[in-house]
Amino acid sequence: MADPFYVTTAISYPNGRPHIGHAYEAIAADAIARFQRAQGRDVRFQTGTDEHGLKMAQAARAEGVEPRAYADKMSLVFKEMCDTLNISYDRFIRTSDADHYRASQAIWSAMAERGDLYLDRYEGWYSVRDEAFYDEKELTVGEGGEKLSPQGTPVEWTAEESWFFRLSAYQQKLLDHYAANPGFIQPESRRNEVLRFVEGGLSDLSISRTSFDWGVPAPDSPGHVMYVWLDALTNYLTGLGYPDGGELFDKYWPANIHLVGKDVVRFHAVYWPAFLMSAGLPLPTTVYGHGFMLVRGEKMSKSVGNVVDPFTMAERYGVDSLRYFLLREVTFGQDGSYSHEAIVNRANAELANSFGNLAQRTFSMIYKNLDGAIPAAGRAPEDDVLLRAVSNAVEREIPDAFQRLAFSQGIEAWIQAVFACNAYVDAMAPWALRKSDPNRMSEVLGTLVAAIRPLAQAIAPIVPESAQKIIDLIDSGADGSPIGQPQPVFPRLELEAAES
Ligand code: MSP
Repeated sequence: MADPFYVTTAISYPNGRPHIGHAYEAIAADAIARFQRAQGRDVRFQTGTDEHGLKMAQAARAEGVEPRAYADKMSLVFKEMCDTLNISYDRFIRTSDADHYRASQAIWSAMAERGDLYLDRYEGWYSVRDEAFYDEKELTVGEGGEKLSPQGTPVEWTAEESWFFRLSAYQQKLLDHYAANPGFIQPESRRNEVLRFVEGGLSDLSISRTSFDWGVPAPDSPGHVMYVWLDALTNYLTGLGYPDGGELFDKYWPANIHLVGKDVVRFHAVYWPAFLMSAGLPLPTTVYGHGFMLVRGEKMSKSVGNVVDPFTMAERYGVDSLRYFLLREVTFGQDGSYSHEAIVNRANAELANSFGNLAQRTFSMIYKNLDGAIPAAGRAPEDDVLLRAVSNAVEREIPDAFQRLAFSQGIEAWIQAVFACNAYVDAMAPWALRKSDPNRMSEVLGTLVAAIRPLAQAIAPIVPESAQKIIDLIDSGADGSPIGQPQPVFPRLELEAAES
């Protein structure tokens, strides 16, 4: 039985259309899922939408529709984004799904049975945009003297009856867990932030709301809906059949990686493990907080008008160019910046001109000069040197980097191996051998195919569709059957195209 591997993204609030930040997270998680599958792991991959809470209720009201109808419409756009970007999820979960209500109520009941819930009155600050409660000491003051959350969002004073979770009782248990499991929160910078926050002391957490009703009803508590983050985090269990247990749950829980943005690490690395401990469930192995995608160095915002639409990007550049760029350009974990020039330059230099051209030249020569029959690799010292460099990259450097989520580093190792292939082509000049030494030409082309196939496989988690086209073409030539006329796989993009 293959070793199970469960990876999740955060589930997005569908209170607007998805932007490139949502696409970035989905693509990174998909690269993880595809890479682990290729390593032979038995992967389950979940993504979806987070549909409850005040933010969604307010967005629906602004549109003049019921929250559920609004969520139905908007969730679909997120799912379409995932499908457009080739995101290989096993389940696209919606927190309005019926099984999610059951799971959320079950974890609540388990926490209640542990004696960790009590009824009281919440009086404090709440940010609707973050769907988060904040202590007075965390707030900052804005330009107009208004109070702001640490994320810079407006907060409002909230006072209502509420259920509380004894988060304070978990402070030491959490610190012990972080100490015993150094890889629990990654990267290191995020881990340090969480440690500082928890060491500073934890207040009990308000986990129900009574001033609106768009949420999962709290068990045995008329008038209370669950705090949206409690239900949202539970999605990771719902998708495996909690609370009924069963095959999926036994196989995939606890999760290997919750991939989330840096702004929601606290919820995943503090609240979530405390909820799980309270409910008597094992904790995920890793919470990884990736960086933010910025647009020319600036935060995206509707008011600035710089929100980048993933559908437009996929249409303009092609899905694989977009995927490649996002994972290539940014050191994973840090913030990254998107710009039109940057994506065009990367896609052209590395995908079209280097790998694409290598494949196209090689297959065209085989098609034209060898009747499409793929020859065997050569055994000359130059052939060995090239194939050893390629196998070092595809068997060691690239998987080692992808395993650590160091995508840009793995892609760098890949492109170096591609450059080595191109240098080999230039040095061997197979076109000149066509007349002078046709046998050697065959060997050189065979060596190139023997290099291109594993290179396509190694980069497939990043550019799945294009890599597969190359692999399929090569495999169509197995057992001596001729390959068809090759078509360029990576388009060359226009630098002069419309600005964005
Ligand atoms: N609904 C919560 C998550 C609940 S998980 C149990 C949420 N939703 S969100 O729509 O605001 O964000 C979804 C994910 O996208 C989060 O991981 C968030 O960090 C990430 N990103 C949102 N904007 C981003 C960028 N500009 N760049 C990269 N990721 C960003 O938070």
